[in-house]
Amino acid sequence: MIQPVIDNHLDSAWIQRTLRADVAEGLLLSPKELPSKWFYDDRGSELFEQITRLPEYYPTRREREILQREMDVIAKRSGAETVVELGSGTSEKTRIVLDALVAIGRLGCYVPFDTSEAPLLYAANMLAQAYQGLTVHGVVGDFEHHLGYIPDGGCRLFVMLGGTIGNFLPPARKKFLAKVADAMHPGDSLLMGFDLLKDHDKLVAAYDDPEGVTAAFNRNVLAVINHRLDADFVLEQFAHEAFFNFDEECIEMWLRATQYQQVTIKDLDMEVEFIDGERMRTEVSAKFRPENIAPELAEVGLATEQLWTDSLGDFALSLSRRVQC
Ligand code: AVJ
Repeated sequence: MIQPVIDNHLDSAWIQRTLRADVAEGLLLSPKELPSKWFYDDRGSELFEQITRLPEYYPTRREREILQREMDVIAKRSGAETVVELGSGTSEKTRIVLDALVAIGRLGCYVPFDTSEAPLLYAANMLAQAYQGLTVHGVVGDFEHHLGYIPDGGCRLFVMLGGTIGNFLPPARKKFLAKVADAMHPGDSLLMGFDLLKDHDKLVAAYDDPEGVTAAFNRNVLAVINHRLDADFVLEQFAHEAFFNFDEECIEMWLRATQYQQVTIKDLDMEVEFIDGERMRTEVSAKFRPENIAPELAEVGLATEQLWTDSLGDFALSLSRRVQC
């Protein structure tokens, strides 16, 4: 087994500084808002993992169906020997990608990239053990800031699965996609997962499970702030809400204060009030129209070769190539 190499660009000072700025800014907005990237500490990553196994949460299963059906074609088409996975999490679906490259004798290197260190370390070791001769070079980083640290080498297939791109609404999405395209070399490919627009009852159900796993995931952002910024949010005094925004065509998750409360954030020297019923937005998850995907990617120099959907038309995967600029 080749020992994985892991670069960590998120020391606790960086996390502290960035979280502090995000919280200070977000809590002054009206309505209040917190960036969804702060869900994913160890506990949050575990809760997200549980979400992917809920019967109501279809994206993971629908995307896996497409990967299982098409990955051989995608691997050949890409010509890649290195897989760079943005937002790799626990690398659950990565084996399907790596197996397809092994099958054509091309697998050289796997680069998981994620903010969450524990699942990345675990996955890096597991995959280095499972695939003889595979070089694993992990990057712990924030993909809005650290894409420049992705190691070079060989023809690369960038993958961003699960519909993670949906966390960006159009203006931010264009900036982010431009950064991804910039991190790629001409000839590299991008395989990206998009959750599609569909019946909104089905969409809302995926974000509001009766077991309350999504609710716990949503409240976890408060636990992260309590822990990192010495705050005293009472998690039980916030109710989980998910609804579909028809104008923006996205799911929104909110936390609603179930009573008047004051919260102290010691690290920011800040006191915030929530009035009874006040809502704070914690996540957006955009839902896509298939016909808009290729044009959006084209705007940043990514030429889409093919778009696949699952048998129910719930989810799409695009394969695009970085063109010469
Ligand atoms: C990881 C961003 C793809 O938007 O579906 C799941 C996160 N939030 N349930 C999504 C999430 C609530 C998920 N992404």
